[in-house]
Amino acid sequence: MKITVDLDLELREAVALYEREQVFVLTDENVRQNCLSIVQQTLSLPENNILVIAAGDENKNLDTLSWIWTQLSNRHATRHSLLINLGGGMVTDIGGFAASTFKRGIHFVNIPTTLLACVDAAVGGKCAINFNGLKNEIGLIKLPDEIIVYPPFFATLSEQQFLSGYAEMLKHGLISSDIDTNILLSFNLDEFFANISKPIITDEIGNESVNPFLENFIHMLSRSIEIKQYIVDQDIEESSLRKSLNFGHTVGHALETLSLHKGQALPHGYAVMYGMIAELYLSVAKLNFPTQKLQRVITFMIENYGKPSCQCKEYELLYDLMLHDKKNLNSSEVNFTLLADVGRPRVNQIASKNEIFEALDFLLNL
Ligand SMILES: NC(=O)c1ccc[n+]([C@@H]2O[C@H](COP(=O)([O-])OP(=O)(O)OC[C@H]3O[C@@H](n4cnc5c(N)ncnc54)[C@H](O)[C@@H]3O)[C@@H](O)[C@H]2O)c1
Ligand SMILES: [Zn+2]
Repeated sequence: MKITVDLDLELREAVALYEREQVFVLTDENVRQNCLSIVQQTLSLPENNILVIAAGDENKNLDTLSWIWTQLSNRHATRHSLLINLGGGMVTDIGGFAASTFKRGIHFVNIPTTLLACVDAAVGGKCAINFNGLKNEIGLIKLPDEIIVYPPFFATLSEQQFLSGYAEMLKHGLISSDIDTNILLSFNLDEFFANISKPIITDEIGNESVNPFLENFIHMLSRSIEIKQYIVDQDIEESSLRKSLNFGHTVGHALETLSLHKGQALPHGYAVMYGMIAELYLSVAKLNFPTQKLQRVITFMIENYGKPSCQCKEYELLYDLMLHDKKNLNSSEVNFTLLADVGRPRVNQIASKNEIFEALDFLLNL
């Protein structure tokens, strides 16, 4: 994994092995507008080698996958071709799947352009499409040959998109250590937003250097990816440790699905942020997680993410959604990853319906 403000250099290195082969870039229509030109300045690929798909998770489906396979085939990609997935998690998920299956697998590089993809989707090898109305129903696990992160791409994300990815960074901090968590909770997001589009600054005598706000952030980003990569390396098939990455996601997925049903889609990271508070409440009740640490996360949530909007009458539905979560070991119990403390995740924790309702009450009455 490379985090860089010199995309040109890293891209050249990544494609050097493919000098005699075809290189393809897969991207979506928004990313083409916002990010493709800088990649093309280095690669200068013929139009024929740029595959553009429609943006949005609803297009992460079999039709799009089939279209990508068809284009690779019609444009004479070989077993030795390279596919560069330039985009958010939708592109890295479907692109990773297409590359891993085309001619039984070709090489692929991920260049994530959203923060969520950078710290989560593009790392860890899970590639999938939505199928039969179910999210990520068909897929496989295949690690990319390289991941190149170029933080200036985040300049065109909305604040909401950025915060959505930041919640996953906070999750990595909470399952990992107090040091990482404290850095994330005290990072000045407003100052960062004001500086993100100025990756390089020039002083009065013309010397150029990396903007210190970006430099701090790059350090946090690299820690976050390292945490995920470390966990994935220990347990790629998710038999135990990798489940710690599900922290916040049992309640989070239920809130996300409910909001979708209500037609007020909640960004994934916001749902995870709220889910983490409910699951920290369960962690306090069941594993003695320190309450003052929970309080700090609540303050951070309220300042940056606001509060979730949900009603008591929706608890049954939320509970039902949690029961159907594919992470459960059986269909009568809800399985959580909870924390005994920051950095001490405990997987396969069961909570009763009453305990879950109490946690929802706590979250919704903050
Ligand atoms: N594989 C995994 O382990 C994993 C983990 C988490 C999420 N995911 C998947 O990732 C997807 C969500 O990721 P996402 O939020 O990155 O979604 P996304 O790829 O759909 O991107 C969100 C939107 O941002 C646009 N966009 C991307 N980069 C941009 C940029 N730099 N500037 C402006 N707009 C930009 C996209 O075109 C899209 O409209 C889902 O499909 C989810 O299932 C996978
Ligand atoms: Zn997530």
